[in-house]
Amino acid sequence: MAEKQFAGGSEAEIAVHWGEEQLIHPTVEFIAQANMTDASIYKRFSLENFPNCFKEYADLLDWYEYWHTTLDTSDAPCWKWFVGGKINASYNCIDRHLAKNKNKTAIHFVPEPIDERYEHITYRELYVRVNEFAALLRDFAKLKKGDRVTLHMPMVPELPITMLACARLGVIHSQVFGGFSGRACADRIVDSQSRVLITMDAYWRSGTLGDHKQNADIACGLAATDGQKVDTVLVWQRYPGKASSPTPMVKGRDHFVNELLKDFYGARVEPEKMPAEAPLFLMYTSGTTGKPKGCQHSTGGYLAYVAGTSKFVQDIHPEDVYWCMADIGWITGHSYIVYGPLAVCASTVIYEGVPTFPDAGRAWRIAQDLGVNIFHTAPTAIRALRKLGPDEPAKYTYNFKHMTTVGEPIEPEVWRWYYNVVGKGKAAIVDTWWQTETGGFLCSTIPAITPMKPGSAGPGMPGIHPIIYDEAGNVIPPGAGRAGNICIQNPWPGGFQTIWGDRDRFVRTYYERYCKNPKSKEWRDWPYMTGDAAVEAPDGYFRILGRVDDVINVSGHRLGTKEIESAALVVEEVAEAAVVPVAHEIKGREPDLYVALKPGFTPSRELEKKISDAIAREIGKIAKPRKVWIVKDMPNMRRVLAAISNKKDVGDVTTLANPDIVEDIRKMAG
Ligand code: PRX
Repeated sequence: MAEKQFAGGSEAEIAVHWGEEQLIHPTVEFIAQANMTDASIYKRFSLENFPNCFKEYADLLDWYEYWHTTLDTSDAPCWKWFVGGKINASYNCIDRHLAKNKNKTAIHFVPEPIDERYEHITYRELYVRVNEFAALLRDFAKLKKGDRVTLHMPMVPELPITMLACARLGVIHSQVFGGFSGRACADRIVDSQSRVLITMDAYWRSGTLGDHKQNADIACGLAATDGQKVDTVLVWQRYPGKASSPTPMVKGRDHFVNELLKDFYGARVEPEKMPAEAPLFLMYTSGTTGKPKGCQHSTGGYLAYVAGTSKFVQDIHPEDVYWCMADIGWITGHSYIVYGPLAVCASTVIYEGVPTFPDAGRAWRIAQDLGVNIFHTAPTAIRALRKLGPDEPAKYTYNFKHMTTVGEPIEPEVWRWYYNVVGKGKAAIVDTWWQTETGGFLCSTIPAITPMKPGSAGPGMPGIHPIIYDEAGNVIPPGAGRAGNICIQNPWPGGFQTIWGDRDRFVRTYYERYCKNPKSKEWRDWPYMTGDAAVEAPDGYFRILGRVDDVINVSGHRLGTKEIESAALVVEEVAEAAVVPVAHEIKGREPDLYVALKPGFTPSRELEKKISDAIAREIGKIAKPRKVWIVKDMPNMRRVLAAISNKKDVGDVTTLANPDIVEDIRKMAG
């Protein structure tokens, strides 16, 4: 791939290339029961029928008031969907199911310790707990419509309970991935101006009950330094009434939720009738600069889109048991553990811990125990399960009808193991390509209509019309065999509304590049740029190659190179830092970090560790580099470093200020 845009050590540049794959059709049993078997859906959602086609998704929800305008483009490219409509997300995920399904399990909770019982929360129980907690948020924490609240919670049922309680009040939640550091949490508290933080004292991960409360103290301290005071910290207890964290409570600021809740037993809170375009939540994601972007998602459009895609692509029926192994701290968990599945009345599984704890059979035992029939995970987990227990699935009697892969490209080899061994040759697979920004799927097959192709996400979703542009803005047609920047020609209801507090950055990052007329109020002039490279096969299937920008996708999670580099610079010995993606067998990509020291400091193993630890402390363990290379000087060109890390030709280096250093570094990196 010789294209200019990939000349920066991007993921797309190191993408693995594989040949064209055969199409695979789902079983007749799958088709016979599928929610969507009518191929005319593509016609119904063609560009001629845009935007009214999306009424089909919105009609899956209960509205207090119907909208008068399907798509308002007057503030382009900040699109508004279903304007005039009034709706509540908590009502749609809970209350409306009570009449027929109150005793059905809404959430199956699986604690990580194997000697702890599963918990099964019915829709009725969810209703009670969400109402009580909403009353607490309103009357004790004094939260009201439009306020932002930061959540830093692990994978426990209290997390969706908290999200749905916020949604009930019209409070905008911003959940920070539990594995992120106190520092990362602080940045998000400051950016969203949250005065309330909701956390949990401890949670299990790989057999250890880790102290999570300490992160809240770090976060509040750092946020205060940066000008945002948190006056209330609500602490759920992993074991109510029992201390699981040694970190003390701060008097006047910290409160145990289960103690406060006693005052709200039996409380009921009328859901707020929210405008469709009111923000439901913020989800921060990494960008090319250091500061994470708060993607602002709407209530009506977002919920309609995740409900529609949960029904038609995830093929969820109310009688299904659905397990998405992602973390709710990422967009996949928001859309496809909480909002989508609950909107369509599924039983959704929440697993606290690591899928391979205590052994590689754990995931399949959970699936067997709960009768899971829809399974959703990422290539990184599939690779890990395959490596650690290639024969494990055969030992269990679970029965999947449907499986999803999401978050990064999947190698056809891994896809086939997933299909043959995990899915036992019976489950239909969807490879869903999308992003934090997009709320729901952009490309995927519809399982009973469009056949599977290993390694390809498939065609654009109904109503999503992708297009690939080259650097000059020319369209690269299907079958051209060339990669380019994949964009979406039209808005869709699940798309984020803006970057919280930074509309300019929103326009610049996603729309400026291919905008046909910056003054236009016409959606056709504003293709959405995803930041991914892709190729389109003659049959219209898209294969995603990875990021073209300074973002590294580690185990399906986006990390900004600038974020990692700034974390390295916190270490006083470090003068310069550059991070590049490297291909990794399990994680897909991993960061490799190069640093140059300030004069007077000498390289050592201890220093490498200090830098690596600083990154874990500043961002979270997930960002830890594969290796820290301390080099004498920095070639100052990421392309060269990426080539060295990936053992590729460094190309022409004669224009560098210090070309000799390249040879030195190459020798060092082996
Ligand atoms: O590069 C694409 C990759 O993950 C990025 C989005 O990451 P994030 O916002 O964290 O959302 C992850 C969950 C949707 C994309 O820009 N990506 C996501 N899904 C796929 C993918 N790459 C290839 N195939 C996919 N199915």
